[in-house]
Amino acid sequence: MRFDPAGKVAVVTGASSGIGAATTRRLAAAGMTVVAVARREDRLVELAAGRASIRPYVADVRSTAQMDALAAWVDAEYGACHVLVNNAGIGGGTFDGRDDLDDALATLDVNLSGPIRGMAAFAALLERSAPARVINVASVAGKLGIGPAAYAASKFALVGFSEATALSWAHRGITVCQLNPGFIETEGFTQAQIKRSPMGRLVGQPELVAVAIHDAIVRGSTERTVPRWYRAFVVLRHVAAPLYRAVASRMARAGGSRT
Ligand SMILES: NC(=O)c1ccc[n+]([C@@H]2O[C@H](COP(=O)([O-])OP(=O)(O)OC[C@H]3O[C@@H](n4cnc5c(N)ncnc54)[C@H](OP(=O)(O)O)[C@@H]3O)[C@@H](O)[C@H]2O)c1
Repeated sequence: MRFDPAGKVAVVTGASSGIGAATTRRLAAAGMTVVAVARREDRLVELAAGRASIRPYVADVRSTAQMDALAAWVDAEYGACHVLVNNAGIGGGTFDGRDDLDDALATLDVNLSGPIRGMAAFAALLERSAPARVINVASVAGKLGIGPAAYAASKFALVGFSEATALSWAHRGITVCQLNPGFIETEGFTQAQIKRSPMGRLVGQPELVAVAIHDAIVRGSTERTVPRWYRAFVVLRHVAAPLYRAVASRMARAGGSRT
C-alpha cells in the first residue's frame, strides 16, 4: 500500500551527518515532521536551523533508557510516529584477535542493538500510528560479508532481524525494510582508499540513499539495495559462490573500504 508522507511524523537516528542528515532533509521536504536524533547537539541544531519541521533530539542509541525516553517524548509531543529510520551506525575496524574484542562488541552495540532498542521503544507507538514504516539502514556488507568482520556481522544480523520482523510485524500494519547501501562517501565512511582505486566511480553521495529511503517509505518496500545494481553481487554470491569469492577478494585487495 502506498504511503503519503505529508503531514506525518518520522524519527531518524544518526541524523547529525551523512545519510541521516540527507534523509532528514529529504523527509522534511516531503512534508514530514522529522525528529532528528544523534549525540552531537550542535550538528542537529544546525540541521534544524530555519526548518520548523525538523526537531533536534539528543540521544545515544546504546542506551535503552534514552531510546525509551525518546519514544515517550515523541508520543507526548505528537501522539504518533509513522516512520522510524534506524540509521545510526559506526564503521568498526578489522578483527585480528583479542585486542579487537572491545571494538567488535562496541560495533555490535551501535549497529545491531541500536536498531533493536529503537524498534523496542517505538513498537507500540508505530502500531498505534499504523500504517507505519521501519527503515533499518543495514549495508551491502550485511549481504556479502566484505570489509571489517564485526561490521559485516552487525549488518548481517540486522538484515536477519529486519527480514524476520518484516514478516512478524506486517499484521500490525508496520512494514519493516532492510535498506542496504553500497559505498557512500560520508564522515564516518570516507571511502578514501576506494576513491583512489579504479572502483572510485562506484562511490555515491548520501542524497542517493535519502532518495531511496523516501521511495521505500512511499512504496512500503521490505528490501532495497542502493544503488540497485549492487544486487547483482548479492545474486552472484548465492548462485555462483566461488566466482563471487574471486571477485570479492580482488575488490578487498583493491579497495579495502567498508560499506
Ligand atoms: N557510508 C557508507 O558507505 C555506508 C554504506 C552502507 C551502510 N551505511 C550505514 O549508513 C548509516 C549511516 O552512516 P553514514 O555513512 O551516514 O555515516 P556518518 O556520516 O558517520 O553518520 C553516522 C551517524 O550515526 C550517529 N551515531 C553514531 N553512534 C551513535 C550513537 N551511539 N548514538 C546515536 N547516534 C550515533 C552519528 O551521530 P553522532 O556522532 O552525533 O551521535 C552520525 O549522525 C550507518 O548505519 C552505516 O553503517 C553506510
